Amino acid sequence: MLSRVKPLATILAEGANQDQGLKRSLGPWALTAMGIGAIIGTGIFVLTGVASATRAGPSLTVSFIVAGIVSALAALCYAEVSSKVPISGSAYTYTYATLGEFLAWIIGWSLVLEYALGASTVSVGWSGYFTYILHTLHIWDIPQAWQHSHWDATPGIANLPAAIIILLITALLVRGTKESGTVNAWIVAIKVLIVLFFIAIGVGHINPANYHLPAGPTTGAGGFFPFGWGGMLGGAAFIFFAYIGFDAVSTTAEEAKNPGKDLPFGILMSLAVCTILYIIVVAILNGMVPFNSLNVAYPVAFALNSVGLAWAGVIISFGAIAGLTTVLLVMMYGQTRIFYAMSRDGLIPPSFVKLHPTWRTPMFSQIFFGILIAAAGAFFPIGILGSLTNMGTLIAFVLVSISVPILRKRHPELLGSFTLPFGPYIIPVLSAVTALGLIYFLRNGNPLVWGFFPLVWLGFLVWLAIGLGFYAIYGRNKSTVALQEAEGGLAPRQPRVN
Ligand code: ALA
Repeated sequence: MLSRVKPLATILAEGANQDQGLKRSLGPWALTAMGIGAIIGTGIFVLTGVASATRAGPSLTVSFIVAGIVSALAALCYAEVSSKVPISGSAYTYTYATLGEFLAWIIGWSLVLEYALGASTVSVGWSGYFTYILHTLHIWDIPQAWQHSHWDATPGIANLPAAIIILLITALLVRGTKESGTVNAWIVAIKVLIVLFFIAIGVGHINPANYHLPAGPTTGAGGFFPFGWGGMLGGAAFIFFAYIGFDAVSTTAEEAKNPGKDLPFGILMSLAVCTILYIIVVAILNGMVPFNSLNVAYPVAFALNSVGLAWAGVIISFGAIAGLTTVLLVMMYGQTRIFYAMSRDGLIPPSFVKLHPTWRTPMFSQIFFGILIAAAGAFFPIGILGSLTNMGTLIAFVLVSISVPILRKRHPELLGSFTLPFGPYIIPVLSAVTALGLIYFLRNGNPLVWGFFPLVWLGFLVWLAIGLGFYAIYGRNKSTVALQEAEGGLAPRQPRVN
């Protein structure tokens, strides 16, 4: 299984098979917009608040720099492999070509956490801003029972707005990429403008004293690092969520016009723009209000409210809702494209590669995940969903980083348009080690089981065990690569349009 590598020639031939496959409609800037659409979201608009208040204080600015560096290292690795293997399926496909089917399966399975659970996390953030707007504008107070899951700090029955937005987006995605791409590009523009708007008005309301509050019952040790270095690193592992999404660009390879060139551009450009915006926003946020007041679901609006700019808070909230919607679009789109690739390889049932006759979207897959994502958003709290998303994503980062030197060694003939500087080892090793470091620090601030084992690690192990069971029963036997090896030259499963 470890040596069952999918031949690159097959992988590239599948991507070239345009007539039967997905439509190629996305250029470099559309891909960058897609990246920004996936990146800026719940991480900055929602998680920053609780991370400042309970994990890192003003040092959250440093946390964002740390998580940004880890993401940039991984993005460089993604850029190289995606320029060489421009096929949809993201990290899963690269791993299949380099590290073999078994690890590729583990990656594909981990990516469900990143994309599907990531979308659930964002839907909970979306619901927070949505209910805030309805309340602030005196439109409707949604009953608490239908705003919260059973496990939230304020227990309820289910988070209904979170589930409803997921089902609406599912309907949009079933209708098609081009339509969703156009809607996405508009909302991304609004989202970036909203962030710039916050920076422009927030910067004038910074009170430098907020960066060095005195020690006290609610400010802990006080100062810039009130929770110490451990708090800052735990904060980095938590808000790493804010950077997730640039890799979603690589799931669109088969819908990109010129994937070899445009994918690295889209990945690196979208991450660069967001990193700069994030660091400025977090520095301003922590300068505007004392960090210990930020433990709310809508911290950016809250900070503006606190300095007497309630009207600006409402504008930002509308922008946040629009922005979070694009994150949902890209993540839910990415999830089905990964399963599309896995189904084409025979590792999961064929329904996931079936396309709608006129819209040419994987309708069954989109609806299947729509229901699962909506249920997770409705019934689980944001902290657990977000931490598990981070875990799945970081595991994928580690394996993609490792695949860079292997790909170069096994396929020296592949000359992508982007090659990592400093040789095949330095950046990939740094990327893998720093991603593992963040996985370690996910324990800081997260619940423990048996008094010492982080719940998020346990959750991941359970998910992995289910995946391994499924692979043993289904994928291992139905894999098209295995069948090809056994029967000699059987064609890979083709997308079906009916
Ligand atoms: N980075 C995305 C967000 O923060 C997933 O919502």
